[in-house]
Amino acid sequence: MTRKRILLGIVGILVIGFVVLQLIPASAISSRYAAPGNPEVTYTIQWDSAETEQLARAACFDCHSHETNYPWYANIAPVSWLVNKDINEGRREMNFSTGDDLEGGDMARQIQRGDMPLPIYLPLHPEANLTEAQKQALMDGLIATFGR
Ligand code: HEC
Repeated sequence: MTRKRILLGIVGILVIGFVVLQLIPASAISSRYAAPGNPEVTYTIQWDSAETEQLARAACFDCHSHETNYPWYANIAPVSWLVNKDINEGRREMNFSTGDDLEGGDMARQIQRGDMPLPIYLPLHPEANLTEAQKQALMDGLIATFGR
């Protein structure tokens, strides 16, 4: 009986803690965790090919554009804070929707090294898990589109 009560108490505290977490505005902790939303797209890319665009949209756009697809779990704290942080930082580094800091050579290097797309993103986004041939096509296409 007492063990059952203790267990129920622990579960209760966890449930309350989870609910309270949902009520804290992430922006109150740090602007890095604030919900990025999808601001207006202000830049039009002249892609070298439809394939490059399709690969970049599949593997890069969720964090480096204003056309982010937010999955349901991206709205649930504390996962939402981590997702928001990657998007805020990713957009600051380079942004396909504003034209800021788009350098093909830099992008290709990140893909070659396996640094991009961020490894943590891949298990839940199999479409971004590119084959070696797709990676090569994307790297060539990004350099053709944005230069070295
Ligand atoms: C899950 C989010 C996410 C995805 C998907 C993603 N990036 Fe990033 N990217 C980031 C974050 C966060 C940073 C800044 C921190 C860092 O460098 O690790 C970044 C940084 C970069 C930088 C700057 C790195 C530097 O140090 O100069 C480049 C270039 C880049 N990404 C290219 C890409 C390309 C190309 C793709 C697609 C193949 C891609 N990223 C996919 C989140 C992402």
